[in-house]
This record gives sequence, C-alpha cells and structure tokens, in this order.
Amino acid sequence: MEELFDRVKYTPSGYNLQPWEFLVLRDEENKQRLREQAYDQEHVTDAAATVMVLGNTDPAAHADRVFEDWLDKGYLPDEETRDGLIDQVEGWRERQPAENRVWTARSTALAGMTLMYAAWEMGIASGAMEGFDKEGVREEFDIGEGYEPVMLVTLGYPEEDADDIEGPRRLRRPVGEMTHFETFDPDSEGEPAEKAMQAEASADDD
Ligand SMILES: Cc1cc2nc3c(=O)[nH]c(=O)nc-3n(C[C@H](O)[C@H](O)[C@H](O)COP(=O)(O)O)c2cc1C
Repeated sequence: MEELFDRVKYTPSGYNLQPWEFLVLRDEENKQRLREQAYDQEHVTDAAATVMVLGNTDPAAHADRVFEDWLDKGYLPDEETRDGLIDQVEGWRERQPAENRVWTARSTALAGMTLMYAAWEMGIASGAMEGFDKEGVREEFDIGEGYEPVMLVTLGYPEEDADDIEGPRRLRRPVGEMTHFETFDPDSEGEPAEKAMQAEASADDD
C-alpha cells in the first residue's frame, strides 16, 4: 500500500494543491459497512481493499506549504508573489460550494485514475465505482461536510481467468466521434452519436 500510494502522490493537481484523501478499507467488517452504502455491490467486499477517494473542498487547505515550496525552489520570484497566491486561493473559499466541489473533483478524480494505473503497474487490478450513497457513506464513516466522496476504487490481485481480462473489451466510442479539432461541433461527423457507436460495435463484432 505504501509503495502504491507513493506513486499516487505524484498526481498533478490544480496549483499543486493536492486536495485528495484516501480512506483504505481492508477489514471485512468495514468493507461490509461500505457495501451496504454501495447498493450491495459485491466487488466492495470481494476486493482485497476498497479505497474511498475523497476530495477536500477547501482549496486553501495546503496552500501555505505548497506555495512556500514553490518559493524555496525558485518557482516564485519573491514572497509577495507567494502571498498573492495564498490570498487568491483563500479567496476561493468564498465561492459557491458547488464550484469548490467541481474544483476538488477535477484533481481528485485524476488521483483516482493514477491509483488505478499505479496499481496495474504493480499487477493489481482495480475498479472505479460511483454507485454509492454519498450521504450514507458520510454518515457511516464520519466524513465531514468539507470532503466530497468522489469515487470508490476496488483493488486486488486478479484471478487468472478474470472476465475483464479474458472477455471482449466493452464498446468504446470511436476516436473520430469524440475528438474535435479547432471547432467544437459534436454532430460534425453528420451522424448521430448513437448511430456511429452502433456502427463501431458491429465492426468490432466482425
Ligand atoms: C467514475 C466511474 C464510476 C463507475 N462506477 C461503477 C460502479 O458503481 N459499479 C460498477 O460495477 N462499475 C462501475 N464503473 C466501471 C464501468 O462500468 C466500466 O469502467 C465501464 O463499463 C467500461 O468497462 P471497462 O473499463 O472494463 O472497459 C465505474 C467506472 C467509472 C470510471
């Protein structure tokens, strides 16, 4: 776990503010408590560990340390610039709560993805999950209002014949449909998205 999270810590974040926290559940009893808040999805307890990925909604929680480091390492010209950045980020505390939830979800979701890639590098399979009752999880695990439960990530060494390794890859929207150059017109391919996805799926079946 230590090695895994030592890789996760290098996730990039807005202003390097690193708003994530990870609650790692390995005890059977705790995984069961979480499963009850996750619509009884069995992977929560099947996994060796299930990680609750939480985003701090206070943008300035680590601002002092982060901008002091920038100053120390020469990424900022002077103390005035450092103080200006701290003021700016502290000002974000006054934004609408919804805005700060989106803010934390951006960087925290990247940390969730880093966790998945880092785990795979170490031979550990993972699964992201959004199917859980946010308020239920808050209550059950005493997660304060200042933290946004962003996702769960299940972790475990995969079985040799695991479905998701052996089975066919699930449909992915084609690159041409999801990628837009210079102007954004999601219907520019001239085909409704659904039709294009069906065409891709049947091509894959061939
Ligand atoms: C944010 C997010 C939430 C997800 N939530 C769940 C979930 O609650 N339960 C589940 O079984 N799978 C969940 N998944 C897994 C997706 O269903 C899966 O990634 C998708 O069907 C594509 O399958 P593949 O990644 O195996 O190709 C989630 C994936 C993401 C990225």
